[in-house]
Amino acid sequence: MRMQGFEAWVLRSGAWDAFSRGVVVPWVADFARFREDAEVLEIGCGQGSVALALAERFPGWSLTATDVDPDMVVPAIGRLARFGDRVKVEVADAEELPYPVGRFDVVVAVLVWHHVDVWRAATREAFRVLRPGGSLVLADVRHPRSSEPKRGLLAGTYGLEALHHALADAGFREWRVSEGRVSFRLEAR
Ligand SMILES: C[S@@+](CC[C@H](N)C(=O)[O-])C[C@H]1O[C@@H](n2cnc3c(N)ncnc32)[C@H](O)[C@@H]1O
Repeated sequence: MRMQGFEAWVLRSGAWDAFSRGVVVPWVADFARFREDAEVLEIGCGQGSVALALAERFPGWSLTATDVDPDMVVPAIGRLARFGDRVKVEVADAEELPYPVGRFDVVVAVLVWHHVDVWRAATREAFRVLRPGGSLVLADVRHPRSSEPKRGLLAGTYGLEALHHALADAGFREWRVSEGRVSFRLEAR
């Protein structure tokens, strides 16, 4: 699903960069057990705010930042150019990733799964491109009361039970979750 209107404007703003660097990336990185020298795929990188902050925080990483929307990828290429060969930016659909089996140590997706039309397919694809023992790290919003209609920013959100089933179906064997009222962090192997 392409980002439009207010959400697209927020992603382009300097405030989102500051929020990613100061809040989102520490929130994810303090939870997940990241290796210092990992090959990492970011799914749904938007204009590259999370990738920027991750590349700064983990200078030993090789990072491939991807998004389905070329209008996001073009500015992200410019913003991440200073990292040289260490950070690539490519167009890729989470539901059909253009990478071979076992290509990455880590797959990261921040605030993306609820935007992906078929997030179960994205979960299967994440497992496929991970090496044995590799980890999927998700941070996303969830609906506080799953019985109510999901509108606005919470449109597309799903329950954690459904996510647990999708992880198991994809092949993941273990996962840890830290839940907030409308958000969660998850690391699955
Ligand atoms: C809320 S933005 C998050 C961007 C970035 N992760 C961040 O936190 O700054 C969601 C992103 O997911 C992307 N997206 C939606 N569906 C996708 C798909 N099927 N495959 C890859 N990216 C997708 C959108 O284009 C958008 O850039």
